[in-house]
Amino acid sequence: MGKAKVLVIGGGGREHALVRTLADDRDVEHVFVAPGNGGTAAMENVTNVALKDPRDLVAFATREAIDLTVVGPEQPLVEGLVDHFRRHDLPIFGFGKAAAQLEGSKVFAKRFMQKYAIPTAPFWVFERIRPALRFFQEQFQEDPRRRFFVKADELCAGKGAFPAFRPEEAEEALRKLFEERFCGVGERVVVEEALRGQEASVLALTDGRTIATLPPAQDHKRAYDDDQGPNTGGMGAYAPAPLVDERVYERVEQEILLPTLLGMEEEGLTDSGVLYLGLMIDPKGKPYVLEYNVRFGDPETQPILALLESDLYPVLKACVEGRLEGAELKWREGAAVCVVVAVEGYPERYTHQNEEIHGLDEAEAMEDVIVYHAGTEYRSGKFYTRGGRVLGVTGLGETIAEARERAYAAVEKISFPGMRYRRDIALKALAASAEGAGEAGEVEEAEG
Ligand code: AMP
Ligand code: GLY
Repeated sequence: MGKAKVLVIGGGGREHALVRTLADDRDVEHVFVAPGNGGTAAMENVTNVALKDPRDLVAFATREAIDLTVVGPEQPLVEGLVDHFRRHDLPIFGFGKAAAQLEGSKVFAKRFMQKYAIPTAPFWVFERIRPALRFFQEQFQEDPRRRFFVKADELCAGKGAFPAFRPEEAEEALRKLFEERFCGVGERVVVEEALRGQEASVLALTDGRTIATLPPAQDHKRAYDDDQGPNTGGMGAYAPAPLVDERVYERVEQEILLPTLLGMEEEGLTDSGVLYLGLMIDPKGKPYVLEYNVRFGDPETQPILALLESDLYPVLKACVEGRLEGAELKWREGAAVCVVVAVEGYPERYTHQNEEIHGLDEAEAMEDVIVYHAGTEYRSGKFYTRGGRVLGVTGLGETIAEARERAYAAVEKISFPGMRYRRDIALKALAASAEGAGEAGEVEEAEG
């Protein structure tokens, strides 16, 4: 068999992780990435291609005889890029448009979960603002302590969920969605009860029949330490998340993953790709679905793939060809922690920066450190910031504490004007485990 040519769609940290992992595989000769970023631009057997239009991508994949295309972001999945490739008999990893509705429409996802008795927060759907405002008036009158989330039906780049813990917050969110059309058409809004607990992300590869679950991860969605500030795309993640221990995982599989696949089958939505469960684990260890995604998480993919020891290409290819059973994923013992380095002002202001990034070589040269790029550019041997989330600095270790220490030691080597990152990534995991309590103390000391 000749060596494979792969095309990755997207240009963030998740895509750099996919590209790096695939480019390392024995069976892979070359990776193209559309559009890629500074990190992928600097790689030897990788080429960035400035294509976005589905027709251009199909033409490119045909011309280059691409053996496998892997889609990173949700937008092209929801818009049907996969269907487009399949119509041209081009192998592509990801759900088609029909199954991608699980991520593309909150109303669709909530009704699906309701129909198949998959645990999720109670919800209401509104098509106009007045009844929604009345609903909140009644709810808060009955009990002012009630807490809700207001969510856009459509995709909103991770910014479509608003806490509504007080009447003013509810009204503001409703106006933003229905009147300002903050997330798009603003035709439908989901209101759901707030759940309590801790969040985790469980990703599973599937060929439609078999699933292969990746190590569970935990993201840090808020912009600032101690989960303060606005929601972001994610400021850091680690894997495996001890929160999802064997007992919790068993419940996730039995109560969520398998019923979801059965429901998809029932609805004629069986597909191959990756299913991402955004979960809330309540204090008793019962998992609820906050959201489905039909793509790899960003930044969860960075620490997850950092732990992968076996090759990724054959497994993704097996998914596409319906022979995932028998494919093998081998994971390194220990843990990985990814600290996202962003620019000051993210996520509120998207400042297009153009500052040189220093210290990348030094950080990358450290043992058990990988620096994934996101908002970077590469010019004449130097890296510059583009804005938003810039890097995903990832440390590996025997324990989460060790991986965390490495990640932060690597972050300290890196500098650029306006650099900002959270200092508490993975601390929750350390606080949670009795064994970790001591380790957490050590880390705090080490950091002064
Ligand atoms: P979503 O885009 O639906 O995943 O929501 C974004 C974030 O809002 C989640 O990661 C949670 O932190 C929070 N969230 C959304 N829905 C709920 C809920 N029902 N209960 C508690 N937190 C929620
Ligand atoms: N890290 C959250 C997401 O990828 O949606």
